[in-house]
Amino acid sequence: MQIIRTPQELQKTCLPWRFSGLSTALVPTMGFFHAGHESLMRYARAHAEKCIVSLFVNPSQFGPGEDLAAYPRDFERDARIAESLGMDVLFAPEPGAMYAEDHAAWIEVPELAGTLCGLSRPTHFRGVCTVVAKLFMLALPQTAYFGEKDWQQLAILKRMVRDLNIPVRVEGLPIVREADGLAMSSRNAYLSPEERAMAPALFAGLRRAAEIAAEGEKDSVRLVEAVRAYWAEHLPCGREEYLMVVDPESLADKALVDGPALMAAAVRLGKARLIDNIVLRP
Ligand code: PAJ
Repeated sequence: MQIIRTPQELQKTCLPWRFSGLSTALVPTMGFFHAGHESLMRYARAHAEKCIVSLFVNPSQFGPGEDLAAYPRDFERDARIAESLGMDVLFAPEPGAMYAEDHAAWIEVPELAGTLCGLSRPTHFRGVCTVVAKLFMLALPQTAYFGEKDWQQLAILKRMVRDLNIPVRVEGLPIVREADGLAMSSRNAYLSPEERAMAPALFAGLRRAAEIAAEGEKDSVRLVEAVRAYWAEHLPCGREEYLMVVDPESLADKALVDGPALMAAAVRLGKARLIDNIVLRP
């Protein structure tokens, strides 16, 4: 596995692959790998001739007061994992190499970024879109893989490549969970043992809504109330940031579950901000 530190070198390595017709895949990450990241890398390895994984804790997607400095990091371990999963390239640039001091170009998809996580993180998705667009220009992969854990991110990036005709296929892969249902996340490292024990209730509440929807409840307000009642009992320390039912593609509010709908939530538990989602089907 080649470890690349500069954007110029990544471009020099990857553009000839794409132009020679090799199938190439990119897995963008911020590192501190867990089984969710590993599933994306495994899928990429099984479906492409050349696999690039990027590891970059992107400063522009963190707001003031967020956990940029505290974000968990372990480069040596991540590099070992990426190598063991057969990645051809690990791209791990310094922030100064990705952003010029007078960096001024940004990509925004405001129609999809103003809801859900965007309500409390107003500049987050502009940072995500911009860094992912930069990674696409550097690696020019045929396909890039993202987790459905960050459903809004995935929906926004699909819209970005469509609207800007970026020649990269954005594909989503299922959420990888712990045995007790908690979605894997680098930020789970922030949970105390007591909080960790309670955290599976986040997804258990969403699953409860999916069951009720499958039994015929279409009213989003009632479905949301059912989840809140479940959390009040099983997740008493959690502070809900949002819990919403939206259209899976446009992310517009959905009052009625009359077709597949996304129920998405963010909950603060101690120092951690946990997000999760489930697709409701009538
Ligand atoms: P990060 O949080 O490191 O996640 C990297 C990729 O792993 C994302 O596509 C995310 O959705 C996926 N992922 C995280 N947890 C997962 C889980 N439990 N199951 C399946 N996939 C999971 O998301 C980012 O980094 C950044 O915003 C990034 C896209 C790299 C841009 O900086």
